[in-house]
Amino acid sequence: MAIKLNDKYLSSFISACEYENIQAEVNAAAKTLREKSGAGNAFLGWVDLPDNYDKEEFARIKTAAKKIQDSCDVLIVIGIGGSYLGARAVIEFLKSPLYNNLNKKTPDIYFAGNSISAGALNEVLALCEGRDICVNVISKSGTTTEPAVAFRVFRTLLEEKYGKEGARERIFVTTDRAKGTLKQFSTDAGYETFVVPDDVGGRFSVLTAVGLLPIAVAGIDIDELMKGAASASHTYMDADIAKNDCYRYAAIRNILYRKGKNVEVMASYEPFSAMFSEWWKQLYGESEGKDQKGIFPASVVFSTDLHSLGQFIQDGTRSMFETVIDIADTGDTFTIPNDPANIDGLNFLSGMDLNEVKRKAMQGTILAHVDGGVPNILLELDARNAFTLGELIYFFELACAVSGYMLGVNPFDQPGVESYKKNMFALLGKPGYEEMKKALEDRLEG
Ligand code: PA5
Repeated sequence: MAIKLNDKYLSSFISACEYENIQAEVNAAAKTLREKSGAGNAFLGWVDLPDNYDKEEFARIKTAAKKIQDSCDVLIVIGIGGSYLGARAVIEFLKSPLYNNLNKKTPDIYFAGNSISAGALNEVLALCEGRDICVNVISKSGTTTEPAVAFRVFRTLLEEKYGKEGARERIFVTTDRAKGTLKQFSTDAGYETFVVPDDVGGRFSVLTAVGLLPIAVAGIDIDELMKGAASASHTYMDADIAKNDCYRYAAIRNILYRKGKNVEVMASYEPFSAMFSEWWKQLYGESEGKDQKGIFPASVVFSTDLHSLGQFIQDGTRSMFETVIDIADTGDTFTIPNDPANIDGLNFLSGMDLNEVKRKAMQGTILAHVDGGVPNILLELDARNAFTLGELIYFFELACAVSGYMLGVNPFDQPGVESYKKNMFALLGKPGYEEMKKALEDRLEG
């Protein structure tokens, strides 16, 4: 495996006995998952996906990606939550957070429909001026407000620019196989469609067409991504947490949670992993945060955030633990230059690779945080590539499911997401919400 869990910094927080005691719970959670007998078992399509994905559709994704690469300067990816975070995370992790600014042969990729900000929408529209555009709208339900509004706007733009026929060649829809207004509309309009499988929830969908089409457009090897995920799925079969790092991670989280550590901070030392942490936050936040339970997922990029949140992590409320992503080979090096004047007094670093400085910063930070009472889990990755990232995605998905079952929640629903939507629709005057609108307005005015 290209991923290794290093738990040596947990020794002062978790005893050998505690690992032994929780094994039975891990066994039960793993059995529930493998036998598909637990809550949310209609949404386990992601478990076998790395081997059992739709090969015909996979080939179509590659063909569509090539068509998009050949016909546009800009791809607009419209989607929110699980319908956008995975693609963006993978593109930024493997290419760059500055992907659009790179000198490259693949189109720029802008994400729209992931907020309710007029400014954000206007900015993306402005960036499209005078450029050839394709759109990939992604929505399982087809009715989510944010992407639906953005799709209205970009569909109209494409139809005005290219005519209905031309727009048809440039709009790619990823949605439910059969149900929903977006599916019906796409069939009627003749758009090429891709499927969000019925048994894969949004936050587990990055390795379906939801993530794969935009990722392939960015020029990333989606075969390697799937191979990495498949490798992880074959590796993490034995439930013994002495042998299974993925389940061990799930076990550690639950042990720490029961000791009052209810915030997990995903820490990395590379800005390219910031969006990956956003994907991880949705995966764990939406899967576990329910029934008044769960670990709150937070994230930092060090050393940047050592100069902002570092104080709190070191010395604030003792409620958190950290999971540190350590990538051995990022593919980049940088030698620190000598300064004959030594104005900053840093000539002891001259000639040193920046990666070496980063490693010492990481080691020093881990020891300081452990001394400050923050358990640190280290996830060691051998390299920054599609295969390893595929492994890491699957590692976190599987651990999330097992951890959620250990916590005693249904890791595959998200009932809490509906509450704000109902209030918003009522306040906006959606037909059928009249009584609720009145009650909410009274509260707002009272
Ligand atoms: O994980 C989830 O289920 C959510 O984040 C959804 O992906 C998000 O709400 C978007 O839903 P939809 O794809 O139906 O537009």
